[in-house]
Amino acid sequence: MGRVMVFGASGFLGGHVYRNLVNQGNVDVVGTCGPESQTAGLVPLDLTLGDPVRRLLRDVVPDVIIWCVMARRGDHEIRLSEGGLSTVVHQVGQSTRILFVSTDAVLPGHRGPYGESTHGAESPGTTALDQYINAKIDAERRLGEGAANYCIVRPGPIYGTRVDGRWDGRTRRVLGALARGESIEQPVNLIRTYSHVEDLAAGLAELTRLPIEGVLHVGSPIPASHWDFATAVAQRAGFSPHLVRGFEISPGEVRERQIRLDTSLDTSRASRCLTTRLRSLDEALAEAPIDILREQVGGRPWESH
Ligand SMILES: NC(=O)c1ccc[n+]([C@@H]2O[C@H](COP(=O)([O-])OP(=O)(O)OC[C@H]3O[C@@H](n4cnc5c(N)ncnc54)[C@H](OP(=O)(O)O)[C@@H]3O)[C@@H](O)[C@H]2O)c1
Repeated sequence: MGRVMVFGASGFLGGHVYRNLVNQGNVDVVGTCGPESQTAGLVPLDLTLGDPVRRLLRDVVPDVIIWCVMARRGDHEIRLSEGGLSTVVHQVGQSTRILFVSTDAVLPGHRGPYGESTHGAESPGTTALDQYINAKIDAERRLGEGAANYCIVRPGPIYGTRVDGRWDGRTRRVLGALARGESIEQPVNLIRTYSHVEDLAAGLAELTRLPIEGVLHVGSPIPASHWDFATAVAQRAGFSPHLVRGFEISPGEVRERQIRLDTSLDTSRASRCLTTRLRSLDEALAEAPIDILREQVGGRPWESH
């Protein structure tokens, strides 16, 4: 295969995508990191700006582009769409395939599981999450209107270890509280389709070779609540699952905060098209490195990143 450019290769998901492709050995991989990062082997550039992206694409001429970028602040996400992504869409021709990682958060959230034909539902709010959602919808629209050869991949929450071995922030927060002997409260009616980061990275690597067009929903075949997730993590790490208390988000709070309760995904198209299997939460956690979980719990204090 030819040349693949991974935007956001210093990130949680992008790090695994980059490593997966490099390990294949027959792919020429170019990865980028943020302008202030210094990650060995990656090209630092600001993806909110068009010019550096234009120059890099002229130099590298990739066959496939994988967009694994997320702004540090929700209100900056739109700059990524208007700057780097818009430049990518307008500069590359039909021979370059774009794999854009979007999010389940764009979905209306009334009742999942949602199929790929569901359009993003813009958020009238102004929180960082609202701005993130609206920017991803803007990006999906730019691809739909301007790109000739693209696949929009929508995952739900992603968990697992980063390439440096640290667990993701969500899992660390759960385990951090439990390690301090605190119980935690998690909603039982916030339903999502979780993805293990290595499964998702392998799926994206496979998608570089497949002619799948349009939107693709990916993740575990079984939706789970945030309470299910935290309970499964607690159990796997050897804590009492009773420390994870379930509560229901009330209809009033859902209305007031415009919470998207159920953005779970119908992943049947992905399971038909991909040979990569995106495991359920229970399967993936059963195979998770428990020694790392225990070592981090028993060792240095948990960070709250
Ligand atoms: N994490 C989840 O649960 C989740 C759920 C659904 C969808 N997603 C989507 O999955 C993708 C990857 O998310 P992630 O969790 O891996 O994010 P992440 O760990 O925060 O990584 C984000 C990446 O974007 C880069 N970046 C941010 N701002 C940049 C800028 N202005 N210029 C250049 N690069 C910039 C970062 O570079 P530096 O760190 O080097 O600055 C990093 O490589 C995103 O598209 C996200 O929307 C994530």
